[in-house]
Formats: sequence, C-alpha cells, structure tokens
Amino acid sequence: MAEAGANGDRNEALEPGRRKLKGLVLAGGKGSRLRPLTATGAKQLMPVANKPVLHYALEQLVAAGVEEIGIVTGDTADQVRASIEDGSAFGARVTYLPQSAPLGLAHAIITAREWLGDDHFCMFLGDNFLKGGITAHALQYMTGSACAQILLKQVENPSAFGVAMLDDGGRVTRLVEKPSDRISDLAVIGVYFFGPEVHSITPHLVPSARGELEITDAIQGLIDAGHAVGSSVIDDDWIDTGKKDDMLEANRLVLATLSRRIDGTVDADSRVIGAVVIEAGAIITRSSIRGPAIIGAGATVTDAYVGPFTAIGAGCELLSCEIEHSIILEQSKIRNVDRPIADSLIGREVVVDRSPVRPRAIRLMVGDHSVVDIG
Ligand code: DAU
Repeated sequence: MAEAGANGDRNEALEPGRRKLKGLVLAGGKGSRLRPLTATGAKQLMPVANKPVLHYALEQLVAAGVEEIGIVTGDTADQVRASIEDGSAFGARVTYLPQSAPLGLAHAIITAREWLGDDHFCMFLGDNFLKGGITAHALQYMTGSACAQILLKQVENPSAFGVAMLDDGGRVTRLVEKPSDRISDLAVIGVYFFGPEVHSITPHLVPSARGELEITDAIQGLIDAGHAVGSSVIDDDWIDTGKKDDMLEANRLVLATLSRRIDGTVDADSRVIGAVVIEAGAIITRSSIRGPAIIGAGATVTDAYVGPFTAIGAGCELLSCEIEHSIILEQSKIRNVDRPIADSLIGREVVVDRSPVRPRAIRLMVGDHSVVDIG
C-alpha cells in the first residue's frame, strides 16, 4: 500500500514547554461537486490509491504526534465511524462530534468547543490531501508563539478558495473567502493551527453570502483583535479532492510513490511491469498491468490491460477491457469494452458491459450529475 500518509517522523514525546495539539478533522458537509458518487457516500471516504482520503489526514496527524482526534460528522456519520472506528488502528483516540448541519468550518469549531477545551488544535479538512504530511508545520506551531497558523499555496484559480494577503514579515493581514477579484493567489489550504483564542471570535461570526460561518472570517477576527497569525507558503503537493480531476491527481501522486508488491495470483500469460501492487486474493489472467497501479483485494483482471496511474478497487472484475489513469471503486464490473477507458472515476458496484442485444446502441442508466464522455 502507498505510504504517503505516514511521511515524516513520528513526534513521540512532546517536550515540556511545547504546546500539546489535539486534532480536529472535518468529515461533515456536503459532497455536491463529486455527485453522484457522493450523493449517498461521504466525500472524505473517496479512495486515493484504494485508501480513503480521510485516512491520510488521520495518519498525518498521528505522524505529527497528535493522538487525540475529534472528527466532526454530518449526514454520513455512520460511514465515517465504520471506516475509522475508535481510531486505534491509526494509533489515535477518536471522539465523534456530530454537527447539527453543515453551517461552515467555523461552526464546526463551535460544535467541537467543549471537546477542545482550551487546548491548541490542528484543524484538518477531511477532503484535503497534502502529500508531504504536516509534521514540520505542527512542530513550527507547537514551538512558536502565534495564536494561529495557516498554510498557503500559490494557485492559478484563487477564486475557488479562501485567499490570504501577507505583510513583508509573512504575517497574515487579510483573508477573503472565494474572492471574485484576484486580490491574492495564495490559497488557504485545509490545515490550520489554532489556540484557544479562536473561541472568543467564533460566537460573534455571522453567516456569509453562502450561509456559512467562514473560517476565513474567524481568522480575520483574530487578526482584527490584535493576535498574531503566522503562515507558511508551501511547495508541497496539495489537493482539495472536490472534483474528479482532483481525485485523479491525488491518486497519481500517491501511486507515483508505490513500491511493487504482489500478494495476489498472476498467471504465466500475464505481464506485470513496474510499481504494481496486487493485493491478496486478486487474480490476474492473460493480462498486462503497467505500473504504477494498484489492484484491490479479490479483484479479477482477465484478458485486460491496466495502465499507469490506475487504482482498481477490491472485488472489481475487469474482463476484456483496457483502462488507465482511472479510479474504479469496489465491486464494479467492466466487461468486453473494446474502446480504451481513461481519465475516469467509476463508483461502487457499477456495471459497464457489452450487450448482445441489437441494435448496438449505447444503453445508459447513470445517476444525476453524472458525466459520460464518449470519445
Ligand atoms: O480546501 C481549502 C478550502 O476549504 C479553503 O481554501 C477555504 O477557505 C475553506 O472555506 C474551504 O472551502 P470549501 O468550500 O472547499 O469547503 P468545503 O465546503 O468543501 O468543506 C471542507 C471540508 O469540511 C469537507 O471535508 C466538508 C467539511 N465540512 C464542511 C462544512 C461547510 C464540515 O465538516 N462541516 C461544515 O459545516
């Protein structure tokens, strides 16, 4: 399995004098940009290299020495709980914090107020993927004196994010959520560090135009109250996995770090080239797999080609087809498709098959908000 989530040394014993950090992971909200895949499922459980994106956040918090983690949940709380359980598999103690409605990131902090107490915390958006982890940033915050610290990344599409403006010393002076004017190209990424001072700001926030209590307004409130807010502009790969192409890019980044491991069965007529993981119980017959790629447990690949940057979920069946640069979720079946499939995100238990019935029309049953691109 890919190890991108466990980057960095584990900060085992926090020295006296250093701030202790709790983790606050946000796994509520709506998943409208990945519908229909997220119409019923949590967007934070969408897989990157066959592992839910949320798991990377937990692994990276634990790698930074954070063991007490609160997870804010919404309508998909049951799925999130089933995926993380009590957190012990990650080395964390997890507390679930149900949010009454997705009323904003600052509202999530209000929801967690009692659990947070007066501890410092790292808030990690459960759909954000940061390739290199957070250990260095956590250390900087824990050993510093700023009452909040944010991470920024230069982006080409700042209007899709919260953005920040800095003074010459790198202190944050102003934040704006999804600005229509290009006032800064530094996007606020979904990993934030806060001290207890934030709780004096959040109760006074008012909903934004999109009806949410914005985290950018909370941070602006800290600045306006005279508190120092630090920032680091990162070079690391960061992806807000909100859309199909973002998922494919996160998948590509993690698969690029894959080491070859073959626990499944590969017959003598198959070729497995490069960094390929074949999980236990998977069966590859008369096929070519060209890495980096991962084939999930119990999947079957027969008379097929799986090309680079592809993640095939557990229990999938690929028969007489070619697929690359794609993510296929668990238990889906793709059979007898003679055109190559690429750049695709296919949900759970989907069937794509050739029908023997004439006329040879394309027959579709696809959910709301689906996109079918016939090349
Ligand atoms: O990805 C970074 C961006 O995240 C920042 O640049 C923005 O300043 C920040 O507002 C946020 O913007 P989004 O519009 O992308 O946030 P989204 O609604 O996608 O929510 C982020 C995560 O937090 C997601 O996993 C869902 C969860 N969430 C969201 C809301 C609004 C909650 O758990 N509760 C909520 O009330």
